[in-house]
Amino acid sequence: FQLKTKFPENFLWGGATAANQLEGGSDVGGKGLSVSDVYIFDENTPKEHWADQWHLMTHRQVEEAQDPTSKKYYPKRHGVDFYHHYKEDIALFAEMGFKCFRMSLAWTRIFPNGDELEPNEVGLAFYDSVFDELKKYGIEPIVSLSHYEMPLHLATEYGGWVNRKLIDFYVRFATTVFNRYKDKVKYWMTFNEINCVKHHPYVSLGVVEENHPHIEQAKFQGAHHQFVASALATKACKESNPEAKVGCMISYQLLVPYSCDPDDIQKTVEKQRESLFFSDVQARGYYPAYTARMLADKNVILEVEPKDEQIMREYPVDYVSFSYYMSSAISAHPEKLEGAVGNLITGGIKNPYLPTSDWGWQIDPKGLRTALNQLFDRYQKPLFIAENGLGAMDVVEEGDLIQDDYRISYLRDHIKQIKEAITDGVNVFGYTSWGCIDMISASTNQTSKRYGYIYVDQDDMGRGTKRRIKKKSFHWYKNVITSNGEEL
Ligand code: BG6
Repeated sequence: FQLKTKFPENFLWGGATAANQLEGGSDVGGKGLSVSDVYIFDENTPKEHWADQWHLMTHRQVEEAQDPTSKKYYPKRHGVDFYHHYKEDIALFAEMGFKCFRMSLAWTRIFPNGDELEPNEVGLAFYDSVFDELKKYGIEPIVSLSHYEMPLHLATEYGGWVNRKLIDFYVRFATTVFNRYKDKVKYWMTFNEINCVKHHPYVSLGVVEENHPHIEQAKFQGAHHQFVASALATKACKESNPEAKVGCMISYQLLVPYSCDPDDIQKTVEKQRESLFFSDVQARGYYPAYTARMLADKNVILEVEPKDEQIMREYPVDYVSFSYYMSSAISAHPEKLEGAVGNLITGGIKNPYLPTSDWGWQIDPKGLRTALNQLFDRYQKPLFIAENGLGAMDVVEEGDLIQDDYRISYLRDHIKQIKEAITDGVNVFGYTSWGCIDMISASTNQTSKRYGYIYVDQDDMGRGTKRRIKKKSFHWYKNVITSNGEEL
């Protein structure tokens, strides 16, 4: 037995982004609109409602977003203009010593509507330039095929992923980029946070709830089509480059029983399975034994074609990646608890032992160690931490000083726990903190919910110079990478 007390030499340190939150340039190079491009930010809306659209998108909002005379502000069409700043931004990532950079492809740059037969060369060429720039600094790209940015046309004309035709469109897109970038990209992820179809079916599946009185049916049918599409994409990837690695990606929120009441314990197992179901299918290649009961309880009947199960079995993922921001406590009888506070995001109960971020996200670094152990015990496949970080308001002081000690403290505490997990024997090969550069928030569409080591001078309505400024955490993370996680 060899005790590991350090990060492996080739550990992939870096940062994570998504095209729809970062790139902007939605009117350039023939790009089409994506489902994320219909989300608005309105500074007159009360703060507590900023994330409403994220969970429930309506037809009216989608139609209005397609009206060229709409006066609303759509932040994800603008991002922080990485499209025109990528050289400067990648140079800053290189200065921090990034070994890898997690990014996603805007499907709509390559297939603007999603159902074209031929790709858009301008879009393909843009990512060639980005990959070449990364290569210049020896930074390994880790690329998500779909990070909340499917073509809007596939939602409006086909009804999203409940429609089986989406599998073919996705596989055409995937095969195109695997062949084009086979010498430039080794690590792929098929769907970002695939388990989040349950939280936001519009941005994950292109499914508008109004169309589906039985929304659970739509969510699981859409997820099944994504499982098949992911397996077919994995096949295409291996055919294009047998050395490439394909991963799944789930949002892993550690759930703990609120008490030792056996009902709380059972409820926690069931709730945790709502997420693990997705990595179970993709890591093992088949539906887990608890599926029948889970679907029956939700009155869901899946339409599965005979060849689906075979392709899923033949092409499970090579590695399991996940985002980890928080944990939550679960009670089977929350109504009976005196003084228990709801956890804003999860619908669980707030754990009295833990602090929360300004957005109500419960901060639990030790939970990351637990999560790593649980996932490795369960799958025995390499793990990759695709996202982790603290969304916070930053203040620029005189002399361009941004003293984000709160962010450093959050990240330091989590990285310490990764090291513990490595010593526990977990095989984790990389860590990309979320939003290495400030971007548009996925859930609230703000810019001021910042995660980055690099500040972008831009406000929630897109006003500002877009100047990039290094925060205190920039220098701290650089040292973390240089010391391979020894100096935190
Ligand atoms: C993850 C998403 O769930 O959380 C990212 O994959 C997102 O796209 C990140 O940005 C942080 O969430 P938010 O809402 O604070 O941007």
